[in-house]
Amino acid sequence: MAFKNGFLWGGAVAANQLEGAYNVDGKGLSIADVLRGGNVNTPRVIDENGPIEGMNYPSWEAIDFYHRFEGDIELFAQMGFKCFRTSIAWSRIFPQGDESEPNEAGLAFYDRLFDCMLKHNIEPVITLSHFEMPLGLVTKYGGWTNRKCIDFFVRFAKVCFERYQNKVKYWMTFNEINNQSDVFFPFVVWTDSGIKFKDSDDFATRRRIMLQAAHHEFVASARAVAIGRSINKDFRIGCMIGFVPVYPKTSDPDDILAAQRAMEERWYFTDVHVNGEYGSYAKRIWDEAGGAPQMAPSDLAELKMGTVDYVGFSYYMSRCVSAQAVNSTPINFLGDTKNDYVKESDWGWAIDPKGLRYVLRSIDGRYNGIDQFIVENGLGAYDKLDDNGMVQDTYRIDYLRAHIEQMKLAVDVDGVNLLGYTPWGCIDLVSAGTGEMEKRYGFIYVDKDNQGNGTLNRSKKLSFDWYKKVIASNGEDLS
Ligand code: BG6
Repeated sequence: MAFKNGFLWGGAVAANQLEGAYNVDGKGLSIADVLRGGNVNTPRVIDENGPIEGMNYPSWEAIDFYHRFEGDIELFAQMGFKCFRTSIAWSRIFPQGDESEPNEAGLAFYDRLFDCMLKHNIEPVITLSHFEMPLGLVTKYGGWTNRKCIDFFVRFAKVCFERYQNKVKYWMTFNEINNQSDVFFPFVVWTDSGIKFKDSDDFATRRRIMLQAAHHEFVASARAVAIGRSINKDFRIGCMIGFVPVYPKTSDPDDILAAQRAMEERWYFTDVHVNGEYGSYAKRIWDEAGGAPQMAPSDLAELKMGTVDYVGFSYYMSRCVSAQAVNSTPINFLGDTKNDYVKESDWGWAIDPKGLRYVLRSIDGRYNGIDQFIVENGLGAYDKLDDNGMVQDTYRIDYLRAHIEQMKLAVDVDGVNLLGYTPWGCIDLVSAGTGEMEKRYGFIYVDKDNQGNGTLNRSKKLSFDWYKKVIASNGEDLS
């Protein structure tokens, strides 16, 4: 058998994309609550000064998991989930972000949720910050540009670690902390760090701001890890990287160098989390941006004290770059170009299962066999109910099967240490990138459309029983 006993099969979601109940039980607004719905052609608008009446904010209701989680967890248990990855909405616990005392009603909700999972023998895997910092920290402090956010985050982390120390063992600090390096995509810098650039900010300015925010997050993560360990030595605390591997377009040495440079945008983040220090190439990245981030004297020592136990990452796609494409437009500083060897999803995401094996081997080699956790993977697709009310999502099964096959090779043949696999959006939820409901990932269909119409009823897709069989056979039966 490729996967050891205890391999953590499950599914993944994030609070802001499924809970809804955006203002219930004392919850404050988060940065996700001011993101309007968009679609594949229409970027989401950020209302950074607060919601505007009459606009559509998909996170407000989402799939109302807040009130329906018991039924949903029951369905996950039917599939045989060993674990379930979700996040704690920071603004349920600290509604504005800077309070000195937490909101008890928010804490109590996650007690109920984790108890329900544990009752079904489902291990919680918890992200502390998944694109949902309190909006108050943005309007009052400027988001992660402000060093004060380190203390606010660490207070939040400590409260969660203490409260759930006997319920949660697996943690992650910041979801896809590296997304923000694409500084010309306003959405990712907002969701990671609560920062909205001015249109007039040039490349170097944006990069300096982003690198400073990331530095604050690194220190916050390291400090949280160190505190977490002192609360419960059995905690396993990881980082979470959006791991999109980058290939050279050709064997032209210039393309190879372009791909190497682009990969540094991934390693920059992973290296700090795993090694507790910036890689030597960080100096080049800082020079390009016109200066290194400002650091307090103790920061580098703190980074060393809070290295992670495992690398959690999402894998959806690979990218391809060419030297010729570098700076072909102001936003294409890494030189993205089309890969002729892979197909794409309806949202233009390259479908590349072998890229997953490549990532697993790359992380394994770079960090000497560190534990890894695939905490997101999946296919966003337009699903249609057939006459029997069933979604025949064979395309999703094909996608997942192909990725699990590569994951098996990485474990079995390459010897990678893999803790688990949690496909993204195991129940249909709001897309982070577009705000749509109709970009669906789930094994469970949720009756709701992009305009917010629908009963919110849940039903099983074809992939539901398929994944159940995969789990029951510990990944041996993928037919
Ligand atoms: C990751 C995020 O970027 O990808 C999730 O961690 C997100 O929050 C997922 O939902 C899929 O992206 P999208 O844009 O299809 O929802």
